[in-house]
Order: sequence, then C-alpha cells, then structure tokens
Amino acid sequence: MEIRATDTPRLEWTGDALAIGFFEDAIALTGDLAQADEKLGGAIKELIEEAEFKGSVGSNAVTRVGSGSSIRKLILVGLGKADTLTLDSLRRAAAAIARSAKQEKSKTLGISLPVFNNDPALTAQVITEGIVLTLHQDHRFKSEPDPKGNKLEQVDLLGFGGQDAAITKATAICEGVILARELVAAPANVVTPVSMAKTAEEIASSYGLSLEILEQSDCEKLGMGAFLGVAQASEIPPKFIHLTYKPEGAAKRKVAIIGKGVTFDSGGLNIKGAGSGIETMKMDMGGAAATFGAAKAIAQIKPDVEVHFISAVTENMISGRAMHPGDILTASNGKTIEVNNTDAEGRLTLADALVFADKLGVDAIVDLATLTGACIIALGNDISGLWATDDSLANQIKAAAEAAGEKFWQMPMEEKYFDGLKSPLADMKNTGPRPGGSITAALFLKQFVKETPWAHLDIAGPVWADKDDGYNPSGATGFPVRTLVNWVLGEA
Ligand code: BES
Ligand code: MN
Ligand code: ZN
Repeated sequence: MEIRATDTPRLEWTGDALAIGFFEDAIALTGDLAQADEKLGGAIKELIEEAEFKGSVGSNAVTRVGSGSSIRKLILVGLGKADTLTLDSLRRAAAAIARSAKQEKSKTLGISLPVFNNDPALTAQVITEGIVLTLHQDHRFKSEPDPKGNKLEQVDLLGFGGQDAAITKATAICEGVILARELVAAPANVVTPVSMAKTAEEIASSYGLSLEILEQSDCEKLGMGAFLGVAQASEIPPKFIHLTYKPEGAAKRKVAIIGKGVTFDSGGLNIKGAGSGIETMKMDMGGAAATFGAAKAIAQIKPDVEVHFISAVTENMISGRAMHPGDILTASNGKTIEVNNTDAEGRLTLADALVFADKLGVDAIVDLATLTGACIIALGNDISGLWATDDSLANQIKAAAEAAGEKFWQMPMEEKYFDGLKSPLADMKNTGPRPGGSITAALFLKQFVKETPWAHLDIAGPVWADKDDGYNPSGATGFPVRTLVNWVLGEA
C-alpha cells in the first residue's frame, strides 16, 4: 500500500472510494462540496439525510455512488466540533476511513480531511499513522492467509501536496510501532532472549546502528548480580542488548532508553497463581519491544541526537537453580538486594541496566517497563504511570505523549515510602507492601541512578488492549513507541 500526498481537489479525484471529513454542525454542502454533490447526482446530500449523519465524532456513513461516476463509494466521517479537533481525533478519523475502505474492498482511496493547527506536515503524519496502524493485522501464527486481507493499494491525501517527508516519517514511526506490537504479541516460545538479540542484530545491520551484546559471562564481569539472579533458572541464556544510534554530525544531546525485557514472567518461585494472568506474561518484554521499535523508527528518521537503546533480556523461570525467595543479590553498583519476592523481577533486571546507562554519560535516561500490577490498579489499562527526578524531563515526556496520542499520568516519587523497602540484612528489599506498589517500584529503581535526569514509565496497562480502540486493533498496542520517538526528536 502506497500513501501519497497530492493537491488534486476532491472534486476532481477519481478512484474507488472518496472519504470526506465533516465537522459537527457544519455539514451544509457549500462551495466545492455543493459542486461535488451535483457531480455525484446528489449522493452526498442523500447519504447525509439517510444516515442522519451529523458529523459527530466517531460517526461515519458509506454509500455506493451510481455507475458512471468518477468514484464508486463515498465515505463520510464525523470529526466532532471544529474547536475540539485534536491530532488524535484525526488519527481516529483516518483509521475509520481506512477500515471502511477495506470493508468496501476498495483498491484506491482519496481522503479529504482538514489541516490541524495550520500544520499540514503534522496532519499528514497523523493521518498516515491512523491508516497504517489500524490496517496492520498479525497473521503470522495462522496457517491460512487472511481472507479479509486489505485490498487497498493506493491512498491519496488530498490537499496535502508536498508533504511526502511527513508521510515518510510517519511510515518509519509505524514500522517501529508494528515491530513493537509483533514482538509483544509473539509468544514466549518464539520471542526469547536469543531471538531478541537476533532482532537487535537485524535492526543494527538494516539501519546502520552499532550493537553490543553482553553475554552472561560479560555481565558477570560487570557484576550484574541483580539481572543474573533473575536469569539463573532459565534454560535460555540471558542477553544484555545495547544498540546505539549516532547522528552523522555532532549530537546535540545524548540519551538512553531502557526497556524491561522479561520474555516470560512465571513469577519465579513466588510463582504466579491462578487468576494472575500468567498466560499473558509473554508481554513482559513490552518495554524492550517499544525500545527496539523506537530504534527502528529513529534510525530511519535520523535526528541529531545520540540514542542508546538498552535491554537486559531474560526469562523469569523456575528450576533447581532458581533464586530462593530471601536470596541476597549484589547489583553492578555494589548495592545489595534481599529478594523477598522473586516475582518483582523486572526491577532487578532494570537495576543493572540503569547502572550501565548511567555510566554512558548521557543527558537523560528513560526506562519503560511492564513493572507492576499496582500501576494498572491505580491508572487502569489505558494510562501509563510516569515518575521523574527532573521536572523538565517529565514535561518533555508529557508533551511528546500528548502529540503521540498516548496517555501518561505523573505519579509521586514519595521518598518516605522507601521505608517499605528497608531490609534488616541488605541495603534494600526488592518488594514493599501492596499499597503504593508502583511507587515503591519506582523508588527501588531510583537507587540505581546517580545524578542523570531520569524518568520511569510503568506501561503494564497500555501495552496490551482487550478491545479495538480506533487505530489500535485489540492485542499488543506498540505503546509507547510514538512518545519515545517524539521525545527524542524534541518536536512535541
Ligand atoms: N510483570 C509483572 C507486572 C505486570 C502485571 C505486568 C500485570 C503486566 C500485567 C511484574 O513482574 C510483577 O510480577 N509484579 C508484581 C510485583 C509484586 C510482586 C511486588 C505485581 O505487580 O504483582
Ligand atoms: Mn513478575
Ligand atoms: Zn514482570
């Protein structure tokens, strides 16, 4: 499928399906629309009346146009009131149009949507995102190809002539989101620490990133006792993955993105019981997946920012070699941890990854992790928790997320709650009391970052969606690749 920017007026466009966006209470057919209606034998007016289409947000209507017309199908999509238009409502409108066109088996589609905030580049970008992200379907694990597969070959964004770069950028971002979705959706017998290392190699060789993979023995030399403690019961070797993107010229800043990469979380000897969702714990590498997705997008967009993409990848399993609850581990910064719960493993893997990133001399570190069920209890499935040691970094991420259409809520770094992690024997325990469980998790991580501005994103809820939501089909969402890319580009 090819998406093109063109200045062909909607009145002159010919093809299978023409889609037009309407604001609520502004569906009078004036100007070129009156002409278009006349040209189509009154089809637009008739459809508006028959479908009682009012342009309210999320509404749409489709009709066939009489043979002999320049188009075969007409799709109307409601945008809500003009003054409430957002980038995300445009993504959703574009997604609704693409789904209708697919349903109607259209091969060519012309889309006429308004420009947001006098910014045609950003508008073309989000329209492209809406189309590509809603049409992506994962049929890798089906024996037969999708009978209802997308027939769309060509999409023209009418009135967006010259915005080819925006479409190219959106396509790169969508490739990143789709990579993240596919990594999260694939089961734990397919996506393993070894396969994650292979994926990183593919990204590195395709897009010219440098890649460092630390094997178990390398991690031992660096004293990564926390990460290796989690890995020790698995039959599959752990991989500490470090991809680096360097701009051609001087980098205006250097950042690190760290993703939790637990390819399966059984809980360890504190094994996840019935009703714990253990069968969904393939998603526990969602942070690493989004990190790789961001790497794939950023390597194509080529900003003048140096970015380190890091994940300490392992399974959390049980065996005769498993960590015992109560074991004491030493992380690579020398801090000791009493593992009072082997199911709080993500923070152990992140501890050593944070220490590693902090030594790179970056200007900021962001980690993202499916870290706690407590964060889902606090914020529900659609909103990620955000903790930060630096207000400016927190604000950058909030702005990046707003433009991306991804939701975050800043949570308190309440130092007093660190009391809940005090251990009589070691420097800290890895698990505090149930109340405020996502906050103690963030405070635990904070022990492994020195002075570098740092933000922690608990994405346990949003990486997976039970139902279709606009441009995100149900299942793995690819959250928060778009936020990460916006943040690195500093364009929010
Ligand atoms: N991977 C889980 C968190 C999680 C839960 C992610 C649900 C996605 C959906 C994490 O490793 C975990 O098990 N956390 C425990 C921590 C507890 C033992 C302190 C939890 O949230 O119950
Ligand atoms: Mn766990
Ligand atoms: Zn986990």
